[in-house]
Amino acid sequence: MQFRAVKGMNDLLPEETERWQRVESAFRRHAGLYGYSEVRTPIVEALELFVHATGETSEVVEKQMFEMERSGERLALRPEGTPGSARAFLNASRHAREPVTRWYYLGQMFRAEQPQRGRYRQFNQAGCELYGDPGPLCDAELIGLLAGFFQELGLRDLDVLINSIGGPGTRARYRETLVAYLTPHKDALSEHAQRRLLDNPLRILDSKSTKDREVVAGAPSILDVLDDADREHWDGLRRALDALGVQYRVVPGLVRGLDYYTRTLFEVQSNAGELGAQNTLGGGGRYDGMLKGMGGPDLPAIGFALGMERLLLALGDAAAPVKEGHCFIAPLGDRAALEGLKLANELRALGVRAEVDGRGGSLKSLLRRASGLEARYCVVLGDNELDRGIVQVKNLAAHSQEELPRAEVAARLRAGLTREAGR
Ligand code: HAM
Repeated sequence: MQFRAVKGMNDLLPEETERWQRVESAFRRHAGLYGYSEVRTPIVEALELFVHATGETSEVVEKQMFEMERSGERLALRPEGTPGSARAFLNASRHAREPVTRWYYLGQMFRAEQPQRGRYRQFNQAGCELYGDPGPLCDAELIGLLAGFFQELGLRDLDVLINSIGGPGTRARYRETLVAYLTPHKDALSEHAQRRLLDNPLRILDSKSTKDREVVAGAPSILDVLDDADREHWDGLRRALDALGVQYRVVPGLVRGLDYYTRTLFEVQSNAGELGAQNTLGGGGRYDGMLKGMGGPDLPAIGFALGMERLLLALGDAAAPVKEGHCFIAPLGDRAALEGLKLANELRALGVRAEVDGRGGSLKSLLRRASGLEARYCVVLGDNELDRGIVQVKNLAAHSQEELPRAEVAARLRAGLTREAGR
């Protein structure tokens, strides 16, 4: 019987994980520069956490949850990182220790979607969450952090979309305006949008259906009905983005799919690499009501998450790590094999990657293996060399060969690799 990975869940083999590690460490470094530190929360949480926080009318909770039951407890694989992080924040009473908390995370999320390029059932997010600052300066800074990260990795032609959906008061008023506008066009809407008209009319604004888009094109904009405090926040956000030099586009139809958002919303899109239709690299927004809604203090919060798979698709070869040179040790004979093990450890102790081939075999086959591994140096050890206290070193890139004293070889090879790396 042949087993296959579950639909929409992918293996990452070593050639891929090297690219991932490079992007992950760039993210850690970048978020760290803004004062964020890493939080790791469980992949499994109470199902109710997502129903409550992500929202009952969000597509994620409605259709895409991986749920399970265990000893009477209803659990779920996390579809996103924001609710778990907020729960951890509250459980640890972080607000009692610091007025503002900045956390980032990296990890797997699960959504039972129809898999396609850039859309998977298990996928990875890198995200930031900021608790305790009402903005709007920190909103702009966070958007700048996200766009700046993509730029630092070399992505160009980014589209930063922003919008405000106001606070609860503005939204309630806008909802009425929107429903009043949409109701006479009800029959022209998709079946899905007709249902949304009752439970979450704002979501119709970012419907992908052409029917809905035609109707929505003439809808009133939420930006025209922001109350004074929401407008001040919105104006402040744009002023701060301008001051930071972040290029953006105001998109009044941007509402995003999770129920918890208030005021600031943003997404970053790119058409780079092999992204195709799933071109939203990341997105987020403010969610000032979540902590209070979870029984915590009335503290504002904002965050984003980016999709690692999509980012890697967008980066293509640009994510390939610079290979560090390494050594391959080719012992000829039993005595040389033991000496080879020792030499490999000497190299590792100096921080040089070293592999010994202890399978025996001809010099020719060992050299072939060394080139297959793209080693920089191949160290050949035979009885004759051991007796003379030397080793043969082949520089596989320069196609040259030299004899080095056994006692000096580790240090000399390291010096050679360091010189090459600096070039
Ligand atoms: P989201 O827009 O649902 O937001 O997801 C953020 C990013 O995760 C997307 O832009 C996309 O790149 C990636 N993503 C989402 N679903 C998939 C999938 N099925 N396959 C591959 N990539 C995917 C959130 O998750 C919020 N928690 C963001 C946030 C943080 N808001 C406030 N704080």
